[in-house]
Amino acid sequence: MNILVLGSGGREHAIAWALARSSRCDELYVAPGNGGTACVAHNVTDLDIEHSDAIAAFAQAHTIGMVVIGPEAPLVAGVADDLRAAGLLVFGPDAQGAQLEGSKTYSKAFMDAEHIPTAQYGTFTDRQQAIDYADQLGAPVVVKADGLAAGKGVVVAETLDAAHEAICQCFDGRFGDAGQRVLVEECLQGPECSLLAFVTGGHAFCMATAQDHKRAFDDDMGPNTGGMGVYSPVPIVSDEELASMKSIMETSARATAQPPFTSDYRGVLYGGFMLTPQGPKVLEFNVRFGDPETQVILPRLEGDLVSIMEAVAAGKPDDVVLKWSDSWAVCVVLVSEGYPGSYQTGKVILGIDEAEACDGVTVFHAGTALNEDGELVTAGGRVLDVVALGDTFEEARNNAYEACDLINFEGKRCRRDIGAKAARGRIAWE
Ligand code: AMP
Ligand code: GLY
Repeated sequence: MNILVLGSGGREHAIAWALARSSRCDELYVAPGNGGTACVAHNVTDLDIEHSDAIAAFAQAHTIGMVVIGPEAPLVAGVADDLRAAGLLVFGPDAQGAQLEGSKTYSKAFMDAEHIPTAQYGTFTDRQQAIDYADQLGAPVVVKADGLAAGKGVVVAETLDAAHEAICQCFDGRFGDAGQRVLVEECLQGPECSLLAFVTGGHAFCMATAQDHKRAFDDDMGPNTGGMGVYSPVPIVSDEELASMKSIMETSARATAQPPFTSDYRGVLYGGFMLTPQGPKVLEFNVRFGDPETQVILPRLEGDLVSIMEAVAAGKPDDVVLKWSDSWAVCVVLVSEGYPGSYQTGKVILGIDEAEACDGVTVFHAGTALNEDGELVTAGGRVLDVVALGDTFEEARNNAYEACDLINFEGKRCRRDIGAKAARGRIAWE
């Protein structure tokens, strides 16, 4: 089967890498792709991934058997709907299902209706009412723009002044239309854990747990980023918590297939959880693979990703078979100096082959490109995702850092404590 993956990050490199390992994958295309996907697939740099007609035409010209949609924006824009209407097999939910990520108000209404535990909240189109509700909840309090804001629409405000400022920024247009409706919610405490599931026909097939590190610097200091590192599985999750998270994912999958939230959900549902003293509560749903979670989840998948995605995309839950390896996976993200603020690009990257020669190491590209001399250069804030497998958590962490130290580019930076908190146990969060 010929396959087209839409997207350009580390997530899409990991998806393409896993698809390319399957004997069922013939020609593989990634649009627009990056310096890493070019090694496992054909990059299609001139295809607009929100332009359904152009994608359908490309698919027809290249006899594409399945389109896999990586990021949320095309899903929310209805690209899966359009491509299905054009007769293509598509991995990714329709626009209705994508509202679980596209509108936080929709997502909260879904959780309320299905009795899914989540933070107490109010949703507002009036600035003063939002401020009054924040005052009523008291600090710390969380302010969220309702719509898609490229991961930047959430402020965990430590003070009421900061909460008021965040509310005003939303209504003043900082996130465009996405901020014209604002959620104000209770600040939950505890470790976070992601649990992703393949969802099709109202059924959820849970993947392995993973934990992202969002802050820029060691010890969870500094600004939020798109993710500085991640590991899987998450050792601090109890059996009871895991059962509760799985049950929430199953309830959610069922709800996507019946009124009032009926959608054509055939893709990944990502549950972002906070493990509170009252049990796991949902912080957010995403309607796609996580980035960088995918980079540690897919290397632990022992089944054939083409067959799994095909069954999900065709709405055949009975054909979905998942098997996970017992190994641990740790991913350290190498970023450009200055990220998540401004940074330089075009720096030559050396040492990837040496890094991949280390035990169990794979390097996924997040922000790289080939320059006119054919050299691999940095092209983003998050540059490389260095992933290592190991028989133990410690071995995976050591392998990942050994590989990181072999890679060089000017301004290279990473967190040195990925997984360190979890290695200390639950007490590290108390
Ligand atoms: P989201 O985009 O909803 O995932 O939010 C981004 C990050 O903000 C989450 O991963 C959490 O770290 C934090 N966050 C979101 N909602 C809450 C909440 N109710 N309480 C505490 N932290 C939160
Ligand atoms: N790792 C967070 C996300 O993919 O949204």
